[in-house]
Amino acid sequence: MSQKEDELIHTFNGITFTTRSSPELLKSLATFEAREDDVLLVSYPKSGTHWLAEVIMHLYDSRAALTSPIEFGDVSKLDQLNCLSCKRIIPTHLDSNMLPPTFKLKQCKAIYIVRNPKDIAVSMYHYYRENPNLPTVDSWSTFLDIFLKGDVVCGSWFDHVLSWEKHRNDNSTLFLFYEDMKRDLPKVVKKVSAFLGVNTNESGINEICKKSSFSEMKTNTEKENHDPNHTVCALTSNRKLIFRKGAVGDWKNNFTPKQNRMFEETFNKKMAFSEVAEHLVYEY
Ligand code: A3P
Repeated sequence: MSQKEDELIHTFNGITFTTRSSPELLKSLATFEAREDDVLLVSYPKSGTHWLAEVIMHLYDSRAALTSPIEFGDVSKLDQLNCLSCKRIIPTHLDSNMLPPTFKLKQCKAIYIVRNPKDIAVSMYHYYRENPNLPTVDSWSTFLDIFLKGDVVCGSWFDHVLSWEKHRNDNSTLFLFYEDMKRDLPKVVKKVSAFLGVNTNESGINEICKKSSFSEMKTNTEKENHDPNHTVCALTSNRKLIFRKGAVGDWKNNFTPKQNRMFEETFNKKMAFSEVAEHLVYEY
């Protein structure tokens, strides 16, 4: 990595962050005062965060504010969040151990979206190539190596899921799967609305599904100008980098049989006791 590229990232608590998350902000997160009605939108990057954010914001229909990720920005971030008087939907890619403790103490609702990590690896590889805030990677095989080691921004996918899985049986945490959203979005929207306690009828749900389709979101984004407050990913402000393929199973176009074996080996070792891993859909 060149010296200039080295300046794009730093390590905090053993996890790689981009310099868009300042060390001072990360340190001050511990002091953040959550409110009972905050909703956390939690994900490892490339899991479908923007998609779920779109669904949630249509459900609230302007009765809540979608903030930028809690870990994005400098130390003034917490004051900015404190100034918002309305209900806050707060996205984050933070590992559960780094979450401000008041979220758990106040039993704030959290929705965690999971996606097949093979598809995440491919999506993140493209993100690394397109996103000027991330270091360059030479090739897909180099990237896959660092992904499996957890040497990428936001750390290891495996550790991230496992850290949040500890909250799987809390009533305040809902786990959703990208693949379920692809298969039956209305069902997932209903589940989210019940979890959040937001009233919606059948036609409202159909309308939300239409507005949050991949093609609709991609087209709308292409018409917009960049708005730094408009992404829910701490790694870019450019929404145009988000909507790539929106498919399940793209990993098959990228993994060699040997890479697949290597991935499965790490997966089976790391996720041996994970219930979330059992629910992941690799094929259909
Ligand atoms: P791909 O790179 O595989 O296309 P995040 O929002 O967490 O950064 O995740 C981005 C991934 O979600 C990208 O995956 C993107 O295309 C996909 N995505 C975004 N909106 C989507 C939608 N409405 N339907 C399906 N996939 C979507």
